[in-house]
Amino acid sequence: MIIAPSLLASDYSRFGKEAARVAASGADWLHLDIMDGQFVPNISYGPGVVGAVRPFAKNLFFDVHLMCGQPEILLEPFVKAGADQLTIHVELAEKVPALLWKIKSLGLKVGLAVNPPTAIAAAAPFLDKIDLLLVMTVNPGFGGQSFIHECLPKIQQADAWRRERKLKYRIEVDGGITNQTAAECARAGADTFVAGTSLFGARSLKAAVKKMRKIVSDNDPALADLAVPFL
Ligand code: DX5
Ligand code: ZN
Repeated sequence: MIIAPSLLASDYSRFGKEAARVAASGADWLHLDIMDGQFVPNISYGPGVVGAVRPFAKNLFFDVHLMCGQPEILLEPFVKAGADQLTIHVELAEKVPALLWKIKSLGLKVGLAVNPPTAIAAAAPFLDKIDLLLVMTVNPGFGGQSFIHECLPKIQQADAWRRERKLKYRIEVDGGITNQTAAECARAGADTFVAGTSLFGARSLKAAVKKMRKIVSDNDPALADLAVPFL
């Protein structure tokens, strides 16, 4: 399981220190939300900021989520900034195959995101080409929104395809993730949890990460299966 705090919910006046706090919290990844004011109605930060933050969290995996209409112009800058994984959106339609190929050829892990109104079937043709499938659980653009429960069947479908096709992509959820919704997503098959508001809003980030990790592991269907023979 991966816990990935989103820097979007941190204190913007001290991104370096906040990234260092994530690194010390026991979290696995740092999630970086890149918004271009076109694909989503908000602007966050770009490769310059990510590159500046990188030295503060040397051992964290940098999970870069591109909510951008023209990600092709940003791939190389984010490689230079120290990204480990780049996730693009399936809504970019005909651009998707070339973008996935390009990210892989740059030597990075490849992610594909699906917005709440988009059918999960849109991702089906790409499942053998990705390392991570991001099932958005809010409409992207802003932190602090409420989890959309209608997205849960998409996680179940993504998990069913993963078993049927013997693939290994991670299933990431992003938006409105709290201990409660993380548990629901874990039961549906998610294994990678992005959380901004719920983790950064806690008194202790370290304790909040630990608690979310415990709740996800308590709701891991693989462990539940193991318990069945003893019932
Ligand atoms: C939404 C972003 C999310 C967001 C999650 O556009 O992709 O990563 O930061 O934030 P919370 O956990 O506050 O919903
Ligand atoms: Zn995100």
